[in-house]
Amino acid sequence: MSTLLHIDSSPLYGRSVSRELTAAFVSQWKATHPDGRVIDRDLNATAMPPVNAEWVGAVYTPEQARTPQQRELLSLSDSMLAELEQADEYVIGVPMHNFGVPSVLKLWIDQIARVGRTFSYGEGGPKGLIRGKKATFIIATGGIYDAQTQRASFNFVEPYLRSVFSFLGVTDTTFLTAGGTSALNQGKDRNAFLAPHLQAVQTHAQTF
Ligand SMILES: Cc1cc2nc3c(=O)[nH]c(=O)nc-3n(C[C@H](O)[C@H](O)[C@H](O)COP(=O)(O)O)c2cc1C
Repeated sequence: MSTLLHIDSSPLYGRSVSRELTAAFVSQWKATHPDGRVIDRDLNATAMPPVNAEWVGAVYTPEQARTPQQRELLSLSDSMLAELEQADEYVIGVPMHNFGVPSVLKLWIDQIARVGRTFSYGEGGPKGLIRGKKATFIIATGGIYDAQTQRASFNFVEPYLRSVFSFLGVTDTTFLTAGGTSALNQGKDRNAFLAPHLQAVQTHAQTF
């Protein structure tokens, strides 16, 4: 039985392009995996504190030596790590905010990037410990940042996610981007805008 971890990070819910596209991915995935299990993690509905000195201290304390308070401090991170470990596949919805990932997604990354759990340092340098997973990132951006365009270098979303996930061991990644969503605010028809992106997402989800 396959397990899909479905993560969203747009605060806009019903108006969100990335949420609509991840939902289409999940429906297609369920159709091709009738016995599959989906874990939903809505980062806008998850209270995640920023990491602080106590949290870092708990991470670097060997597991057997942790105090009850340190265990409690790491409990949210432990739950989110369990979701990553249980799933075989990930679909992650990402709105571009200020040229990067939204703050809730960064908070989640800070919770799951844990020495000894998702990466380690050895003689050969850092090693990612999340192995054998496939990840699809569905990104929505107001502007257009395609490789050959003037604003391409402003896009820190895809390069950042590619780097951080490969650092953690997830190298089988696909990036699907719906660029130019600001046209929707200028009256472009939503269905017409979404149609090619829904098609791309459904086609890709069928290959999972
Ligand atoms: C707080 C905020 C910051 C944004 N920053 C950018 C930006 O830097 N560049 C851009 O092209 N669009 C930006 N946008 C527009 C979003 O990327 C766009 O609305 C996209 O559709 C968001 O994904 P969503 O529809 O899933 O929420 C921003 C939107 C918000 C709400």
